[in-house]
Order: sequence, then structure tokens, then C-alpha cells
Amino acid sequence: MNRKSLMFALMVAGLLTAIGLGILGPVQAAKEKYFDRSGRLIVEEKQAAELLRAYDTKNREPEKTFPVPPPPFSEDIFPCSDCHADMEPNLQRRELEDMHTDIVLHHAEGQRWCLDCHNPNDRDVLRLVSGETIPFSESYRLCGQCHGIKLRDWKVGVHGKRTGYWNGDKQYLLCAHCHNPHDPKFKAMKPLPPPVRPGEARH
Ligand code: HEC
Ligand code: HEC
Ligand code: HEC
Ligand code: HEC
Repeated sequence: MNRKSLMFALMVAGLLTAIGLGILGPVQAAKEKYFDRSGRLIVEEKQAAELLRAYDTKNREPEKTFPVPPPPFSEDIFPCSDCHADMEPNLQRRELEDMHTDIVLHHAEGQRWCLDCHNPNDRDVLRLVSGETIPFSESYRLCGQCHGIKLRDWKVGVHGKRTGYWNGDKQYLLCAHCHNPHDPKFKAMKPLPPPVRPGEARH
């Protein structure tokens, strides 16, 4: 065996050992370290789910909710269950013909379909990827799953619109008040005609 292939064999062996020891494998358990009130260092074995609270759907603290005006539904569309309560959900990705024909997905449409956001079994609520269902008044949480930075900005009032008192009650506009969830990109505006030159207007 020449030197190069020996090095290679050693590397492969090292990698396999690392996987075997769980160093590169999925994190199952981890240590959490903190100081108690007397200043003693406490080390606890925790399951990964307890440390990554986002994945710990059972014990997670409830999300803070934000006061918002009613979602901007068009007339007579809500509650959706007026029609959907008696309908079988149709999971098929297709062009709608009997209803909602005005909705044409133009929002990462290659990767997704209506029921990634709308809840198949109760159409009056939205659904997060975790399976948790949320009311339409919390739709910002749905958007925040993919637009995390925008949601963070929105919460502190840097993006979107927040009104009220700086140290008191505030009200927020939902993302959906400004962005169409089905086609959120703002369309380029048609420029207005240029101003007429002073002299020309009089002739
Ligand atoms: C990215 C997530 C998302 C996807 C994908 C999506 N929707 Fe929506 N949809 C929403 C949200 C959020 C609202 C709520 C808007 C509001 O607050 O008024 C909504 C509103 C609606 C409404 C009420 C519209 C109105 O006129 O007030 C209908 C109907 C609807 N969606 C149907 C669909 C259909 C059909 C599809 C697939 C072709 C779809 N949605 C795909 C997020 C989504
Ligand atoms: C007036 C009756 C009516 C109302 C109200 C209504 N829908 Fe529908 N919806 C339909 C019909 C009919 C279809 C099937 C259309 C087709 O297959 O061409 C449909 C299809 C859908 C679909 C496609 C998936 C599926 O199961 O077929 C989604 C998503 C949807 N509706 C969401 C909503 C949401 C969200 C609301 C409330 C904001 C709502 N709908 C309100 C009648 C209604
Ligand atoms: C599953 C992930 C996902 C969710 C949930 C989602 N988006 Fe998006 N969004 C994307 C992706 C990917 C793009 C870029 C591709 C595109 O525009 O089609 C995008 C594009 C956008 C844009 C356009 C950005 C630009 O370049 O102008 C806006 C605005 C937007 N989303 C708002 C929203 C709002 C509001 C919601 C909640 C109703 C939402 N998104 C929910 C994935 C998501
Ligand atoms: C008051 C109206 C308003 C609200 C509320 C709002 N946005 Fe926007 N958003 C805008 C405007 C205007 C722009 C375009 C200018 C800009 O980039 O800031 C924009 C841009 C965006 C973009 C594209 C920006 C980029 O960097 O290309 C995304 C994504 C987006 N918004 C997501 C969201 C999400 C998610 C929420 C809710 C958590 C939200 N917006 C709430 C008005 C709003």
C-alpha cells in the first residue's frame, strides 16, 4: 500500500468511527449547562427536542399573539366551512374550475399547493408544517415559517405597519393586509406620464 492510499484508508476508518460514536450522527441527547442560584454548575442530560424548543411541539410555550384588525377576507367567503364542511377535501393539485378561479398561485408555486397552508379538514383555520392549526388572525406565523427575518422585523415594528403607543398597546397589520398570500410580489408600477413643461401647457 502506498502512502496516499494508506492516508485515505485511515481517513475512511476515522469517519466510520466518528459515525459509530454518534459524533456525526443525528443529535439524540445533549448536555445543558447552567448555574443554579448558589452559583453551582449544573449539567443535565437533555433530549435534543427539549433543547431545540422549536421542535418540542408538546411542551413549547404558547406563542405570543399580536393584536391585529380582522383579516382582509373578501365578502361572504368566511367562514369557509359554510361550503367546505360538507365537502371532501380534494388533495389533487389541479386547476380549480368550480370556485376560487380568481386564485392563481404565484408564490413558490412549483414547490407547493393550497393545502400546504390551508387545513384540509377544517378550512376555517390555517396549518403550520408542524401540524398545528392557527386562526387566520395569526397568519403571520404561517408566513414566518419561511420568512423568519421578515417576521422578526415585523414583530419589532421595522417591517410592515404598527400603530399605537411605544410603551403601551400596539396594533399590527397582518402580512396579508399588504401582501396577497397567493401572489405576494408587488407588481411593478406603471410610471405616470412625465410632467408637462411649463411653456408647452399653454399652447
Ligand atoms: C402561502 C400559503 C397559502 C397558499 C399556498 C394558499 N393560500 Fe389561500 N390564503 C392564505 C392566507 C394566509 C389567506 C388569508 C388572507 C386573509 O387574511 O384575508 C388565504 C386566503 C384564501 C381564501 C380567501 C380569499 C378571499 O377572497 O378572502 C381562499 C378562498 C383561499 N385562500 C384559497 C386558496 C386556494 C384555492 C389555494 C390554492 C390554489 C390557496 N388558497 C393557496 C394562504 C395560502
Ligand atoms: C361558496 C362556497 C365556498 C366557500 C365559501 C369557500 N370555498 Fe373553497 N372550494 C369550494 C369549491 C366548490 C371548491 C372546489 C373547486 C374545484 O374543484 O374546482 C373549493 C376548493 C378549495 C380549495 C382546493 C382544495 C380542495 O379541497 O378542493 C381550497 C384550498 C379552498 N377551497 C379553500 C377555501 C378557503 C380557505 C375558504 C375560506 C376563506 C373557502 N375555500 C371558502 C367552495 C367554497
Ligand atoms: C413554504 C415557504 C413559504 C411560506 C409559508 C410563505 N412564503 Fe413567501 N415566499 C417563499 C419563497 C420560496 C419565495 C420566493 C419565490 C417566489 O416568489 O415565488 C417567496 C416570496 C415572497 C414574497 C416576494 C418577495 C419578493 O422578492 O418580492 C413575499 C412578499 C412573500 N413571499 C410573502 C409571504 C407572505 C405574506 C406569506 C404568508 C401568507 C408567505 N410569504 C408565506 C416561501 C414561502
Ligand atoms: C404595511 C404593509 C406591509 C406589511 C404589514 C408587511 N409588509 Fe412585507 N413588504 C411591504 C412593502 C411595501 C415591501 C416592499 C419594500 C420593502 O422591501 O421593504 C415589502 C417587502 C416584503 C418582502 C420582500 C422583501 C425583499 O427583501 O425582497 C417580503 C418577503 C415580505 N415583505 C414579507 C412580509 C411578511 C412575512 C410580513 C408579515 C410578517 C410582511 N411582509 C408584512 C409591505 C408590508
